[in-house]
Amino acid sequence: MKTIKIILIFLFAITIMSCNINRKKEIKTNKTIAQRVDSVLALMTLKEKIGQMNQYNGFWNVTGPAPKNGDADKKYKQLKAGLVGSMLNVSGVKNVKAVQKIAVEETRLGIPLIIGLDVIHGFKTLSPIPLAESASWDMKAIKNSAHTAATEAAAAGINWTFAPMVDITRDPRWGRVMESAGEDPYLGSQIAIARVKGFQGDDLSAVNTIAACAKHFAGYGFVEAGREYNRVDLSLSRLQNTVLPPFKAANDAGVKTFMNAFNDLNGIPATANKNLLRDILKGQWDFKGFVVSDWASITQMIKHGYAKNNELATQYAIKAGVDMDMESSDYVNHLEKLVKQDKVSVNLIDDAVKRILTIKFELGLFDNPYKYCDEKREKTIVKSSKINKAVLDMAKKSIVLLKNEKKLLPLKKKGLKIAVIGALANNKDSPLGSWRLSADANSAVSVIEGLKKYKGNKINYAKGANVTVGRADFIHELKINNTDKSEFNKAIQTAKNADIVLIVLGENAFETGEGRSRTSIGLPGVQQDLLEKIYKANKNTVLILMNGRPLTINWAAKNIPAILETWQLGTQAGNAIAQVVYGDYNPSGKLPITFPKNVGQIPIYYNHLNTGRPDKPDDNQVWWSHYSDVSNAPLYPFGYGLSYTTFSYSNLRKSNESFNENGKINFKIDVKNTGTREGEEVVQWYLHDLFGSLVRPVRELKGFNKISLKPNETKTISFTVDKKTISYFTANKKWEAESGDFKLFVGGNSNAKLSTDFSYK
Ligand code: NOJ
Repeated sequence: MKTIKIILIFLFAITIMSCNINRKKEIKTNKTIAQRVDSVLALMTLKEKIGQMNQYNGFWNVTGPAPKNGDADKKYKQLKAGLVGSMLNVSGVKNVKAVQKIAVEETRLGIPLIIGLDVIHGFKTLSPIPLAESASWDMKAIKNSAHTAATEAAAAGINWTFAPMVDITRDPRWGRVMESAGEDPYLGSQIAIARVKGFQGDDLSAVNTIAACAKHFAGYGFVEAGREYNRVDLSLSRLQNTVLPPFKAANDAGVKTFMNAFNDLNGIPATANKNLLRDILKGQWDFKGFVVSDWASITQMIKHGYAKNNELATQYAIKAGVDMDMESSDYVNHLEKLVKQDKVSVNLIDDAVKRILTIKFELGLFDNPYKYCDEKREKTIVKSSKINKAVLDMAKKSIVLLKNEKKLLPLKKKGLKIAVIGALANNKDSPLGSWRLSADANSAVSVIEGLKKYKGNKINYAKGANVTVGRADFIHELKINNTDKSEFNKAIQTAKNADIVLIVLGENAFETGEGRSRTSIGLPGVQQDLLEKIYKANKNTVLILMNGRPLTINWAAKNIPAILETWQLGTQAGNAIAQVVYGDYNPSGKLPITFPKNVGQIPIYYNHLNTGRPDKPDDNQVWWSHYSDVSNAPLYPFGYGLSYTTFSYSNLRKSNESFNENGKINFKIDVKNTGTREGEEVVQWYLHDLFGSLVRPVRELKGFNKISLKPNETKTISFTVDKKTISYFTANKKWEAESGDFKLFVGGNSNAKLSTDFSYK
């Protein structure tokens, strides 16, 4: 007996000592990742398995001694004990290396951490906010932008981004609209695919790719009244037909992780939503990656009024399918006991850990935990000119020309006296937008800086007014809107003395983003007043909008002759804007979200259902679906955007009148550049399913094609409708095509008039 005990102790000691070595030896094996995962799992204690499911924020000074404060100290000890599988918000090679070293060299098994960060629109060098990028309708560019972000982040030690956010939203009050791809499930799905592929590339183990995360599963974009973290109540049809498609597309594109949403969905917190996570995601969609909770969303189920205590919250989350606990500490504190009490099956733990380890293997972290920690590479790549060039390219493509009367734009390059007005024109920070954790403050090229690169004109700048007052940062509330008009007169004078005015107005970077919902979405502070006064002083006024959400700019839309929507374009904002203003780049962006006339119209989106009373009666009766004070039409529709040239659409034709289960119809349209300069157009086509087992949207985007045309050039665009195109989640609660009649519309925005009919038999 004694001998056996000694042998066992000896074997145990050998195992401990050799685990790190095992990891290294493993590299040379020909085993598949699944086999390697199994062999690591076999070495793990229950505690260590649970450790892999625990993610902490990087709160301590990783390059120095462990912090003194109790909580941080406890977490630090847990890291050393192998009870942390991932960290977020640790970035930069030096910092990542420091925490990785603890995981790899000080824990029993030496399992590397996976390092996550919100690389939402770039790392140190920022591309446009996601809503802006979406306005490009350019999937190649969006994919390249995600790839650029991955390259820079990976060079700084990051393995995993909490992006893309693929939440569809129709509510510009919601601050996170800036992080979305807008209102449409089809466009949103294409963008989800582009971003996932851009971040992850073809080889996750390459040093310039990172794992992506489709978030927030699901429904977060539909928070009631646009209020952050609010409840979400969705019909099954809306969930299936509108909310889930981009998630499904991300999964089909091979996204490695999902994040659950903060909100409840029809009463059940997404964190505990078995139907979403186990039945749909891991069941029907066969998702192979892992699910991370949102920040402390497991614990928050207590405040939500769903879980009575942390133990129950833990049980709900793991059973629902949440594999990794971000910042709740619930898994690490309670799971072991719950398994021992038979309240949670160890199979659920094993499944979660396998999923997590698999991605660590795929990233190549087991082969070389420091592979993303090369200081030399970090120096060469981060903020490099190549990265800056890529974000500039994306920034130009994201700009939308909303109005251009009198052909005010583009500007002549010589001989003009230009008044540049507005605090945002001289701002190097707001163009960076929200969600830019690693970027340096004030690192954007300002509009003035961009404009000054064109030397032929004279620029006079006057601020006119600030956008906001008060502390502007990622964490704190920006409460006070500016009321100071003391610099108005100087600005008015400057405008009067100019040939043309460029007035830059909009939102501060931190007026959108997480925690930044607003009930009024006009120009904040005194900017509207400033705009009106400047216009009075000089009618040749161009409004350059810089904002993170659709704004209600009715007055401007009616009065100001030229308007450019430039969103928040990132590091190269000023250069991109200047190049568009001077016509070195012809704007080609189209709105990925409807601009309402006022907040009362929200939610307003192009693909709404019809009512039984959609039409205004001839004799002005009130019995139709409308408002008394404002028309149903939006200020600017989805898909809308102008160019410095013009396009015409003609000769819409089809191969046949109808098709059946195995058939299809081919359509063709001729698009001509009818203006005088080369330009790009997003050719969009929409379907209206006239009758269905559920009421069908008045039209739905089904395809688009971004083309470039020289003056007078015509291109023929072809597209196909088949069974898949017309399928939707029907009253039968399944995706299917229903026979019936359809109308197809083609044009340059969601109001496209050119149409033809067909049917499905
Ligand atoms: C909370 C946000 O909802 C989520 O999108 C983000 O990834 C995490 N915080 C981590 O920062």
